[in-house]
Order: sequence, then C-alpha cells, then structure tokens
Amino acid sequence: MAKKTDKKLSGWDFSPSPEGTSHIALKDKYDLFIDGKWVKPSSGKYFDSINPSNEEKISSVAHANQADVDKAVKAARKAYNGAWGKMSGKERGKYIYRIARMMQEKARELAVIETLDGGKPIRESRDIDIPLACNHFFYYAGWADKLDYAFPNRKVESLGVAGQIIPWNFPLLMAAWKIAPALAAGNTVVLKPAESTSLTALKLAEIIEESGLPAGVVNIVTGFGDTGAAIVNHPDVDKVAFTGSTDVGKIIQKAISGTDKKATLELGGKSANIILEDAPIDQAVEGIVNGIFFNQGHVCCAGSRLFVQESVAEVVINKLKQRLDSLYVGNPLDKNTDIGAINSKEQLQTIKKYIKIGQEEGAEMYQSPCSIPTKGYFCPPTLFTNVAQSSVIVQEEIFGPVLTIQTFRTVDEVIQKANNTPFGLAAGVWTDKGSRIFNLTTKLRAGVVWANTYNKFDPTSPFGGYKESGFGREGGLHGLEAYVKLS
Ligand code: NAI
Ligand code: MG
Repeated sequence: MAKKTDKKLSGWDFSPSPEGTSHIALKDKYDLFIDGKWVKPSSGKYFDSINPSNEEKISSVAHANQADVDKAVKAARKAYNGAWGKMSGKERGKYIYRIARMMQEKARELAVIETLDGGKPIRESRDIDIPLACNHFFYYAGWADKLDYAFPNRKVESLGVAGQIIPWNFPLLMAAWKIAPALAAGNTVVLKPAESTSLTALKLAEIIEESGLPAGVVNIVTGFGDTGAAIVNHPDVDKVAFTGSTDVGKIIQKAISGTDKKATLELGGKSANIILEDAPIDQAVEGIVNGIFFNQGHVCCAGSRLFVQESVAEVVINKLKQRLDSLYVGNPLDKNTDIGAINSKEQLQTIKKYIKIGQEEGAEMYQSPCSIPTKGYFCPPTLFTNVAQSSVIVQEEIFGPVLTIQTFRTVDEVIQKANNTPFGLAAGVWTDKGSRIFNLTTKLRAGVVWANTYNKFDPTSPFGGYKESGFGREGGLHGLEAYVKLS
C-alpha cells in the first residue's frame, strides 16, 4: 500500500487491508475453449498473463491461430444449426439465468482474479464489474422468450455466428455485454478476450462448461491481434462486435466492407464533463474524480476533458487538487485503494508520452504528491490546466488518469468546445437546473449524457457512440437489436 506523503488533509492513514487470494482457483496453463472442450492451440504456443501491480506471471494462456479460430467458428456453426438453433427461447433463457447465478456464486473469486490480472482496485471489480456482468446475463435472460414483444409486429430472426473481440479495461463485463444479448437472441459465439486480461473470460468458460450449455454455443479463443483478425476475416462469421481502439475499429470496418457481416464498433472517446456555476460543487468534484480516475482512466467514456464555468473555476480546481491529494494509489487488492495499476507496460508508456507532450505544450501540470510503488505499472492522478482547445492532450485519447481542465463563460461556448472532438461517446453535465440539463443534453453530440453523475451503467440502458467513437449500441433493447434480423 502506498503511504500518503501529504497527511495534512486527513491527519490519519489507513492500515493495509488486502483482499485474500486463498479462495481463488487458477490453473498454471489455459487451453482454448472450443466446442465445449479445452483444446491445445495448434501452434503449441502460449503467452504469459501477468499481474501489472507486481509484474509477476499469473498463468500461461494459449495463443490461437487461424486454424484454431476456424475450429471455433465451425463449432459455433454446428451448434447454431443444431441444438441451440432448435431450442425455444424459454429454454435458452434458462441457460442464461443459470450462467448468471453461477457467476454470482463465484463473484468473490471473479473479482479477485479481475484485479490480479488487470490491475483495477478490488473495490471496483467487487462492486461494479462483477455485479454488472451478472446483471447483464440476468437482464438478457429475461428477453430470450420475449423477442416478439421486444420487437412487436416484426419477424425476429437470429443472425448466426457472432465473432466478438473485447478489450482489457472491463474484461468480464465486456464479455457479458457481448455474450448475453447474443445468446438471448439465439446466436452462437466465438469470443476473444484481450491478451493482457484473458483470465476472467476463461473462468467464464469454466462456468459455461459447468452450466451444461450445449457444446459450441460459446467458444473462447485467446490470443493477440492476429487472433482477432482471424475472427473478423472468417467467411462464416455473420456478425462482428468489437470494443477497443479507434485504429483497430477502422481496420475492422475496412476488412468487412463488401461482405454482408453486421457490425457494432465501440471505440475511443474524449468525453466532456461540464460543471456549470450553479452545480453542487462538492458532488461535482466527486463526479469529476469518478469520471476520470475510476479504473485508472481506462474507460472509453472517461470524463477526460473537464469544462468549468469561469466564475467557479478557482474553487472547483482547488477542491479537486485537495481531493487528488487524498486518493490512494497502490496495491489494487487493498480495499482502500482508489487508483490501482495501469493495465500494461505499453499503456503506461503511452500515458507517460502524453504527460510529456502536455508539459512540452506549455500546459500547467499538477500531480498528487502520493508515493507510488516502485514495482508494477503505476501513474499518479494528473491534472493539466492552461491547455488550449488544439492541445494534443485535449484532442487525443490518453486512456489513463490524466485530466485536462478548461474554462468557459457561456453555455453556447461550452457546447461548441465540448463537441469539438473527433469522438462522441459520453458527456457529463452538472447543474441545479433541469432546463439547462435538457438544453445541453440535446445539443451535446455524445451517445450517453449523464446529468449530475458520471460513469453510471445499467444493463437496461443503451451505450455507444457518435463519430469516431463507433456505431451500434450495447445494453437495453438496442443491444438486443444488434443481434437480430428484423423483417
Ligand atoms: P486494441 O484495439 O489493439 O485492442 C482491443 C482488442 O482488439 C484486443 O482484444 C486486441 O487483441 C484486439 N485486436 C488488436 N488488433 C486487432 C485486429 N487487427 N483485428 C482484430 N482484433 C484486434 O487496443 P490496445 O492496443 O490494447 O489499446 C490502445 C488504445 O486503444 C488505448 O490506449 C486506448 O486509447 C484505446 N482503447 C479503447 C478501449 C475502449 O474501451 N474503447 C479499450 C482498450 C483500448
Ligand atoms: Mg494480466
């Protein structure tokens, strides 16, 4: 646990309180989960999954190549044409409920593994990632036998085999966002987790195996970008669902153009968090902290651009700095930790690169004086003031605990500034006035706009972006629609 160097604010410190790890079961080596069985990768190659908070190896994970992906897609097709495709929605729903309940039973184990493998604070994996992942399965289980009510007066058909590629920032939650609606709608799945965070998807494969879901309905293939590309390019995949970087999203869109593959792409963001002068300031400061420092800023919808109305800028920035000083950066397994480890060495390098660019651009930097562990990948929470609309750190996604702060005078001005970005995933608005909320939310070009809160998720509400943040929605009925053909 990192000790706070600046004690003048709280005057006291927490004792270490790490979550136990004795209850988790992890294998030394994980094979691929294809057609209901664990199979060795045809190349014989495995890679290490490490703990980013201490750089120690946790387990070996199979690297699937094109031949393995082909096997997985064939298994998914066979299940689609066979048992799963013929099953009633009511029966499908029972399996999805069963998976949800089994995940709940193993929630503590899943939370600890998520934190070990990905570096996020246990408080988040325990209270947010895992419960939400279970809730997605529960929610979509309910739709499985009600597709005709979901889309009244339409003929509803499933798509077939869904190829799904997910990132490392919310590993199990992203798997749930993708698998649950696909199954509810009657599709089968080949899913690839991110290379740095495969373990909870593999634990989910164990749960799926134990649940008795027919073989081949869900296949989990682990690997790198080449494995993902093999899924995208496989001719027998009917739908591609991807969450990750805008660069890879563009590659995927090119790869599937001219095919009749359906796609949903959920990509990067540079979301605006807007504080008006009549906002409840203390709550807003908490909302700013939650918006950007939650999960080390590894959130596609992170509120990474702060806009504060000029008349309250000084008080907001001062309070924010005070709050930053009280954040704990350190062992992600410790229940007091606010900011855990950056997911990988590469991502830490990216964040450091942007911090350097910010300084070189002449922005003023403030970092909390906390000490950070010497081993592992850590970054103190960082603020930049004196930035311009054209600054690189204002325009580009950093995907780390780095916030840029700008001020504004009028609402029209902030709408223009907030929308001046290639992205459009989310935004936050803080004000006492409902009319101001409605005015702003209708004019902000972002898929999700939170009012007087930030980073709140629910399985029933759709999530997705505008512009380079991608297209298609996940969650809610919109998320179900992405997995059906309507006529
Ligand atoms: P990435 O986009 O390379 O990785 C996401 C997933 O795509 C991983 O499973 C990866 O193996 C797979 N992938 C990589 N290349 C592929 C290809 N050609 N075809 C199919 N699948 C492929 O993201 P990366 O490199 O890990 O992070 C880079 C930046 O992307 C971050 O700094 C951040 O800005 C952004 N990002 C955004 C996320 C979001 O939630 N929107 C999540 C992760 C990263
Ligand atoms: Mg890892």
